[in-house]
Amino acid sequence: MASNTLDDLLNTIQRNWSYLSSQATPLNLAMTLVALLISLLSAYILAVSQQETPPAAPSGCRNIGLQGRSNLHDQYSKQYSSGTGTSASTSWTVKAMFIYPIKSCGPVELAKSNVTTSGLRYDRQFTLAQQSTSLPTLEGKVTSEWKFITQRAFPRLAKVETQVWTPDPSAPGYNKDGEWVKSQGCVVVRFPFTPDTEFSIQGLRNLGKILAAKLEGKSEPMIEFRLPFNPNAERMREKQYRKERMAIWKDHPMALNMGCEIPEETLAQLKYTLGVTNPLTLFRIDEEGRREVLRCAPKKEEVGFQTTIGMADSYPMHILNLASLHDVASRLPSKSSISRLSALRFRPNLLITGPPAFDEDDWKQARIGQIMHHISCRTTRCKLPNVNPETATANRNEPSTTLLKYRVIDKGSKNACLGMQVTPLEKGEVQIGDVVEVTERGEHFSL
Ligand SMILES: *[C@@H]1O[C@H](CO)[C@@H](O)[C@H](O)[C@H]1NC(C)=O
Repeated sequence: MASNTLDDLLNTIQRNWSYLSSQATPLNLAMTLVALLISLLSAYILAVSQQETPPAAPSGCRNIGLQGRSNLHDQYSKQYSSGTGTSASTSWTVKAMFIYPIKSCGPVELAKSNVTTSGLRYDRQFTLAQQSTSLPTLEGKVTSEWKFITQRAFPRLAKVETQVWTPDPSAPGYNKDGEWVKSQGCVVVRFPFTPDTEFSIQGLRNLGKILAAKLEGKSEPMIEFRLPFNPNAERMREKQYRKERMAIWKDHPMALNMGCEIPEETLAQLKYTLGVTNPLTLFRIDEEGRREVLRCAPKKEEVGFQTTIGMADSYPMHILNLASLHDVASRLPSKSSISRLSALRFRPNLLITGPPAFDEDDWKQARIGQIMHHISCRTTRCKLPNVNPETATANRNEPSTTLLKYRVIDKGSKNACLGMQVTPLEKGEVQIGDVVEVTERGEHFSL
């Protein structure tokens, strides 16, 4: 069978069917039907034979993500297009919450989270990085460094799914010396990979795997690997982790090179899926290498701590007002081929409903639930939101062109803004339905 997708198979059947209708005699009708049944049956048997039992859950741990439901289910509803009135009312609330354990990869949706002055727990602690070599200088010197990668250059990162499992004494297999309990949890990473289907035994098996994925309603077979959330010294020694300098934006933190946690073959498959040709690895922020945020973050003299982040772009937390997003969506050119603009394109930590569109532009301080937040600056937008997180393909112009038309609002900046960068001023918990109360307003500048 040369076809390698179910669609091809169905096409073949359709073509045979039309041929059949023109040549129909009872005998060849019956024979074709039998042949068809046999091929369908063998495809099914092949698929079932290659179905793999999913790996067991990380023992002693519990998946913290929302499963089988999402608070985004009605995000396109018109009811969110306008605000609900003044902030004195209690109807400004947190509608949805997300963390992105690996920078630029898929989100984990939560109902509740711990917050520190560095943002939501488990958010952006890891990043993939490729070795990048400079052009020669005039003296012919060439330098090479590990540099973080994002969806702008590698949109297929959107297809990399993540789950966070945290130690839980009530979870099956809990043992305080268990592998994942000792590492404060486990990040399960899955990505799509379609193997070769050349004419051989392995090719046939691979075809079975592809069909098995279709049976489970996935577009491609998925490959999985696991990462210790916070590897302890023993594991670092055993696996020979290296602390290395890597580049993320203008920072060069010493970070943990955890590439050794990804089996070699899996790493090669991941590179293929992402379209990365340079050497690829995975870094975790090191506690001692956390990046200091200066610019618009609250001043250490005033708040008593220096704001730091892991692998986030520039500030601890990002909030988005759904009414503002609806406003942008309503201005997209009708020919833009973006039928619905998901909040996930803008990768918020907290999605808020209630305030009228762009009310947040002048927030300076706000209480969310119990926790006071410094609203540090507006979020400037690159072209990353042009990537559709569902298909992992980038639109050439939108929504960035629309944003540039009316959202260049920071004095002295040429960048469009949507959403706000936030620094929590205290520790605590935040959850869905928490009330948002703006306690101070003022101007924002780009720095
Ligand atoms: C927040 O942290 C505390 C203390 O570690 C823990 O008991 C609680 O379950 C955490 N809450 C969430 C939502 O993870």
